Amino acid sequence: MKIVSILLAAGQGTRMRSDLPKVLHPLLGRPLIHYSLEAAEKASNEKPVVVIGHHADEIRAALGDRARYVLQEEQLGTAHAVRQAEGLLRGSCDLVIVTYADMPLLRAETLQSLVQAHLAHNGPVTSTTVVQNDPRGFGRVVRGEDGRVLAVVEEAQATPEQLQIRELNVGAYCFDADWLWDALPKVPLSPKGEYYLTDLVAVAVAEGVSVQACEIEDINETIGINNRVHLAEAEAELRRRINRHWMLEGVTLIDPSATYIEPGVTIGQDTVIYPNTYLQGESEIGDHCTIGPNTIIRDTRVGSRCRVLASVLEGALLEDEVEIGPFGHLRKGAHLARGVHMGNFGEVKNSYLGPGTKMGHFSYVGDATIGPDVNIGAGTITCNFDGKKKNRTEIGEGAFIGSDTMLVAPVKIGAGARTGAGSVVTRDVEPDTLAVGVPARKIRRLEKGD
Ligand code: UD1
Ligand code: CA
Repeated sequence: MKIVSILLAAGQGTRMRSDLPKVLHPLLGRPLIHYSLEAAEKASNEKPVVVIGHHADEIRAALGDRARYVLQEEQLGTAHAVRQAEGLLRGSCDLVIVTYADMPLLRAETLQSLVQAHLAHNGPVTSTTVVQNDPRGFGRVVRGEDGRVLAVVEEAQATPEQLQIRELNVGAYCFDADWLWDALPKVPLSPKGEYYLTDLVAVAVAEGVSVQACEIEDINETIGINNRVHLAEAEAELRRRINRHWMLEGVTLIDPSATYIEPGVTIGQDTVIYPNTYLQGESEIGDHCTIGPNTIIRDTRVGSRCRVLASVLEGALLEDEVEIGPFGHLRKGAHLARGVHMGNFGEVKNSYLGPGTKMGHFSYVGDATIGPDVNIGAGTITCNFDGKKKNRTEIGEGAFIGSDTMLVAPVKIGAGARTGAGSVVTRDVEPDTLAVGVPARKIRRLEKGD
């Protein structure tokens, strides 16, 4: 059986009051349409179709070939939007799921049970409803005395009596495809000058075929985003879902309401996350780590048994047992091997720090390769930029870089060498040699125990 999903995303999203199209507003780091598209992908077995109109190019660019696209040139309503897909889909599928791209919390499992309910019933239309006190501008589900669904009435057209109805139209439907394409032209023009998809219910009832409505129990799934208040509500709910998942997987969140974990992140067991921590992008955190408080980790792999305190890590790699912070900053290409200790006010970019290397206090290391067990004194700087290009610094195993050393790259410090406090190193220092001064000059060869 071929099942296709249609996502409606052609509207302007006026109520967002934004230059950015509504469905591209970020929700936990991803454009909010990403979530409804993902649910649609899981619930169907054909590539989803997205109906676009306003900001069509931007939406197409954001989703790429995850979807097929049809253009709704004029936004004449949700039924009109679905009709735009007829040319592409008629004759090629059995069931059509329709959802709105502004409902990111609707789960794939809910759409799957919508399809199951549809198949278990012999009507051509199955819709979803929710019973809730705050109607949020949703369409009202009108039932007859026998409980059968008769119509969905939009808020603007509802009578005062209908406005009291607390069974609301969620906006996820499953249709027999052939019936859908035949019924859409029968949808009347609403007093507001739009063709409402919700009027298909009345069309079906008038034809004498039955309409089924499945109730969604979790009202949070039905948070639709029309304005930025809804956006914040959806973000909070999505965060709760993700945080709950990780707590059940064995991660301690000291304060889940102040922990911000994006959907692409993974976290190992027995890791403890302190408040005001943001785990973003495609980050991976190992087990038995302590992260935060006040930490941002983006697109970074953190090994096991690491400690990261009040620091910002972006595009970095930490092996096991690394300690950072407070106030460390790792930038793209920072690779800290096992057991590296990086204390306060350090910055590392595009550099490798070998196992056991220590960099205790306010230093900048950029474009460097540093061996194991190196001691980088306070205030050390790799002067990697000569105004035109970036140059590399190499430091060999066990070297000792004195406090406030300027390493003017390109430059190499040999294994076991030392630089004196405040030296400005402009030339390579051989292994086991002490260099001091401005610019640094060699003083003597180092003896064992020196
Ligand atoms: C819609 C439903 C309402 C339901 C609510 C749930 C209709 C008529 N009403 O109202 O019953 O309770 O969702 O969230 O369907 N769109 C197009 N082309 C158009 C118009 C809209 O693609 O011509 C898209 C929008 O981009 C949006 C979606 O359809 O993603 C829903 O439109 P919106 O204006 O948000 O409808 P609601 O007023 O929320
Ligand atoms: Ca909406």
